[in-house]
Amino acid sequence: MKKKDLISLENMSSKEIFDILKLAKKLKREPLSKKHVLKDKTLALLFQKPSNRTRISFEVAAVHLGGYVLYLSPREIDMGSRETPKDVACVVSRYVDGIVARVFSHQDVVELARYSDVPVINGLSDLAHPCQALSDVFTISENVKKLKKTRIAYIGDGNNVLNSLLMACAKTGISMNVGTPEGYQPLGHIYSEASEIARSNGAVFELFTDPLKAVSGCDFVYTDVWTSMGQENEKEKRLEDFKGFQINETLMKVAKKDALIMHCLPAHRGEEVSDIIDGKNSIIYDQAENRMHVQKAILLRLMGK
Ligand code: CP
Ligand code: NVA
Repeated sequence: MKKKDLISLENMSSKEIFDILKLAKKLKREPLSKKHVLKDKTLALLFQKPSNRTRISFEVAAVHLGGYVLYLSPREIDMGSRETPKDVACVVSRYVDGIVARVFSHQDVVELARYSDVPVINGLSDLAHPCQALSDVFTISENVKKLKKTRIAYIGDGNNVLNSLLMACAKTGISMNVGTPEGYQPLGHIYSEASEIARSNGAVFELFTDPLKAVSGCDFVYTDVWTSMGQENEKEKRLEDFKGFQINETLMKVAKKDALIMHCLPAHRGEEVSDIIDGKNSIIYDQAENRMHVQKAILLRLMGK
């Protein structure tokens, strides 16, 4: 049987996404119910960037499934400098049964998947963060009756987190308003493909450059850092360009009453979000927790029998 990877959500069908959400719901209720599925299997976490949530949630998820985990920091592998992604994939996949990779260049995780004999999961690249987006849709589903009647505003940078969230929402019929400054819109081809898919699922996507208009009437308001890992030298410019795009009380006043605040974390209070993120309408820690349940479902689908 051909091995399956999770590199971005473009190649995942709506049915596959809903199956993961359903399985994650069961696993959240019974975290140890599949504790032998990864028995005698090893998952390698090959990370080029730091991580709290992705690393820990994958490690714990794999342990709950009975597997063994190897964390490989940039120092151990040094992919790209010490060895090519092809050599890394060909060697590591002879030792382990699955790889989670966090990379700078999306092309590197594509190459890893191409040459690896075992499933490769994208644990964040400059282009996509599929595990985050699947967990976010799961968290949204815990808070609404019908995904199809839901509208989420994403405010901030058109980055990896947004790219994957667009696809996840499109494929599950959630409508999206995207509010970014000029020049920070999501990539054209990703946005057009996602809005086309959204339309076919009865959802509507809209782009805004006015954050107040983008948030207006929404059920959820989502943001991410203005400066992603690897963009540190643009930080000063970005702080200037994103002024007015902070999620705070003024912005939340125009969202629906009791709209919920989301952030993939890490958060920079005082930049993309005020301390409103610590208030009662914030569901950021549920999002973080749900990474573990959803990724357990992903590991089962990709590495289970
Ligand atoms: N949201 C997320 O991926 O967090 P980490 O970078 O800490 O893994
Ligand atoms: N956009 C952020 C997400 C971190 C989880 C980054 O890539 O750094």
